[in-house]
Amino acid sequence: MSNEGLQVYEVWDKPTRWFHWINVLSVLGLVGLGLIMLNGKALEIQTQGKILLKEAHVWVGYLFVCNLVARLLWGFFGNRYTRWGGILPGGFGYFSSLRSYAVGLFTGHPKHYLGHNPLGRIGIAVMLVLLIVQAVSGLVLAGTDIFYPPLGNWIAEWIAAEGVDPASLAPYAKDTYDPQAFEEMRAFRSPFITTHYYAFYVLAAMIVVHIAAVVITEIREGGTLVSAMFSGRKIVAGVPADLAGSEDRFAGIAQDASGAMVGDKAKR
Ligand code: HEM
Repeated sequence: MSNEGLQVYEVWDKPTRWFHWINVLSVLGLVGLGLIMLNGKALEIQTQGKILLKEAHVWVGYLFVCNLVARLLWGFFGNRYTRWGGILPGGFGYFSSLRSYAVGLFTGHPKHYLGHNPLGRIGIAVMLVLLIVQAVSGLVLAGTDIFYPPLGNWIAEWIAAEGVDPASLAPYAKDTYDPQAFEEMRAFRSPFITTHYYAFYVLAAMIVVHIAAVVITEIREGGTLVSAMFSGRKIVAGVPADLAGSEDRFAGIAQDASGAMVGDKAKR
């Protein structure tokens, strides 16, 4: 196979790659623990086991939330492909690029992109919203279910029975709760657990779509989509649709396939 016309570009910066793989691992852990919790009855898990599962789920959840917050902030500082302007759908010329990408897909000649293609941006935006929904609803449930931060102290003070120290409240210890306050707290919790439950299924479906889209694009474009999330570099034939002009100070560094730099690193 000839290397002619192949170019190497720096696309995914280090923080974005770290976010991606920590997110993959933490979401896998959360889904796994979540599935066990969902099937707790069938698996005959006792109260102590349920509490342990929730605690483990919440600790992985904290890692997931911190990583997600870091990525949301990086959207303001990253390179042109990892900043908000390169991730979210919309902005100047977005709809015409979406149309031309979709036409290219149907005719079998989709344009190559270094960052997310216009269709991919929609998928990424939906996934980010779902991750944020899971993070927020999960943090509330951490308080209502096992009195963990950030709301745990407040929930414990709300439902502790008279004469019981809120700091001593334990999950499933109903005799230490004020019955009416407990019912009110459960009503407050209800929309959060419903959201957490249904968003889980939508997110699971989106993960399948995301993996399928990556595999299909990799096969059709013969690109380096998956390895780029490890190395940061994409190898592309021809001129990518989102390659910045050399006058752009955020332009990717271009190298030919033999490794010689052809972009203008000094302008970065
Ligand atoms: C991608 C992220 C997440 C996924 C896919 C996920 C998934 C799940 C699933 C499937 C359940 C079982 C639902 C049920 O029992 O009805 C669950 C429960 C729970 N999640 Fe998450 N979760 C995520 C993030 C979080 C985070 C960030 C936290 C908190 C830091 C959290 C805290 C909880 C708690 C406390 C429960 C127990 C609720 C209960 O069943 O009583 N989750 N999660």
